[in-house]
Amino acid sequence: MRPLPVLLALVGAIGLAACFPPRGNVEPPAADAAITAAALKRFPGTTAEQVALGRTVMVGNCKACHGLPAIASEPAEEWEQEILPEMAAKAKLSETDKAALVRFVLGARDTVK
Ligand code: HEC
Repeated sequence: MRPLPVLLALVGAIGLAACFPPRGNVEPPAADAAITAAALKRFPGTTAEQVALGRTVMVGNCKACHGLPAIASEPAEEWEQEILPEMAAKAKLSETDKAALVRFVLGARDTVK
């Protein structure tokens, strides 16, 4: 057995697994006071309206290509640093909608029990 092709196949399989779109379709939680409080800790000045808009943005823009991903399916850092910037660009969100989405998703992620 030649080790290099095996290694490459393994690396390839792991790389592919990391970029499959989400399976399933999970309604996000209601934009409640707990989510707003959690979002406020990360982003001072966050309003309840902004968090509610973020949920609307998600439901309206994030299932054109795949189902709605469960918020708990990814760690907060991954949402913040990789997924949300990439997916906001894919969904061509405005800066206002993107800011609202980030607040809703991270607030909701922080309140997942
Ligand atoms: C234009 C099509 C399109 C839109 C719109 C879109 N996505 Fe995606 N999404 C993809 C594709 C394709 C993938 C597969 C991985 C990749 O390309 O990065 C993906 C992957 C994902 C993943 C899995 C990422 C991972 O690393 O496991 C999540 C979570 C996700 N999308 C969330 C969202 C959210 C939230 C929105 C709304 C802002 C959104 N997507 C809008 C096409 C889209």
